[in-house]
Amino acid sequence: MKIAVIGTGYVGLVSGVCFADLGNEVICVDKVASKIAMLRQGEVPIYEPGLRELIQKNVAAGRLSFDDELSGAVRQSDIVILAVGTPSLPSGEANLAYIEQAAQEIALAMNGYKIVMTKSTVPVGTNERIQQIIGQFSGYPFDVVSVPEFLREGSAIQDTLYPDRIIVGTDSVRAGETVVGLHRPLTDNIIVTDIRSAEMIKYASNAFLATKISFINEIANICEKLGADVTKVAEGMGYDKRIGSSFLQAGIGYGGSCFPKDTGALIQIAGNVNYEFKLLKAVVEVNKDQRFNVIAKLKESLGDLKGKTIGIWGLAFKPNTDDVRDAPSIEIVETLLAKGASIRLYDPVAMSTFKAVVNDPSLVWCDDPYETAEHCDALCLLTEWDEFRQVDLVQTEALMKQPILIDGRNVFSGEQIAITNFCYYSVGRPSMRRHVQEPILGTY
Ligand code: UDX
Repeated sequence: MKIAVIGTGYVGLVSGVCFADLGNEVICVDKVASKIAMLRQGEVPIYEPGLRELIQKNVAAGRLSFDDELSGAVRQSDIVILAVGTPSLPSGEANLAYIEQAAQEIALAMNGYKIVMTKSTVPVGTNERIQQIIGQFSGYPFDVVSVPEFLREGSAIQDTLYPDRIIVGTDSVRAGETVVGLHRPLTDNIIVTDIRSAEMIKYASNAFLATKISFINEIANICEKLGADVTKVAEGMGYDKRIGSSFLQAGIGYGGSCFPKDTGALIQIAGNVNYEFKLLKAVVEVNKDQRFNVIAKLKESLGDLKGKTIGIWGLAFKPNTDDVRDAPSIEIVETLLAKGASIRLYDPVAMSTFKAVVNDPSLVWCDDPYETAEHCDALCLLTEWDEFRQVDLVQTEALMKQPILIDGRNVFSGEQIAITNFCYYSVGRPSMRRHVQEPILGTY
């Protein structure tokens, strides 16, 4: 099929490349000409493992091209994928300005029947609005189909090529059959439903996953007080098929471009129809607080943080991405700065994206985990990059002023810590507190 993809963010770029890889002819369009120029030169504006290679392969095969002009791409295509951003407004509501503008531009460019397939996450009712806009600006026949995207950053290609399910929300049998056919090579598990339910499936899925994370984080906080180990609790819960083991990793809370935005938007969507989504509000609240446990543990071990040197391992909201949108690291670093601490930071790929958000002149940017640890009073691990798992903790400890390690992602095992002198805090596991007021507790 001939496909135009509007928007080259995570969703647009990865979907476009994967559809090209399946043998379709794809043109990816973005208004930002510099992005298109970059892509044409084989450069990728986002960090995503495997993406550059897949782009190069499909460009070389003549199936994938890039353009900063929408109308030509739309005219040449049977299917137009809408994958522009829906950032949050201050109210939490999704900003639909880019969607509405793109819908108008698509309508004005049409030269015959088109299927407009929405992959952007949009509030319930938005695809009907898109139908309205296109109908208003174009005389040609068209169908709008909602196909929400569930890819995760860091494993975006894998998630797109091997999805758990594909949701097709449509009111047209003809368009439904075409879109199902397009996705058939990816999975047999294709659920065809009405447009509003498809839109809701995306929000409900993200809200549920966020709920699992906040739930296990609260269990972790209680485990800390009771001397239980949340990793064992999560493992024990996860064997129950009704619960499942994924998304039960306690830590410093979720960040990223989706969960914070989509939970806020769903609270608003419910509010707009006079329904208070109390459970989801609590999920968001718990998540906001969770990151500050790192600060509390630093205070517990160091007292006043003024003048103390703190090392930060990991800035990205999760590993394998340079994305720091809504990353817990931002508020943690800002709070430490406000408390007068000196900060040394390191992330394998997210240093420049972080610098664009927090660029205090006092921050010391380091080249590796060991340089970060030098002369530190404490180290905080905020992102579970593999590189940190490989670190020699004995060597790290020797570089520090005081051996205090706050592991915000439960990366290290009791055995790894036992051969060091670290005063070690993790999340929801008994701490190993040496060289501070309290005796050693538990085995972690
Ligand atoms: C998420 C959804 O998983 C995806 O389906 C949707 O399309 C976009 O939003 P993403 O934001 O890329 O994907 O990352 P994900 O792997 O889901 O992690 C989100 C956040 O939750 C991260 O900050 C991660 O650290 C945190 N998380 C995840 C936990 O704290 N514990 C867990 O058990 C799982």
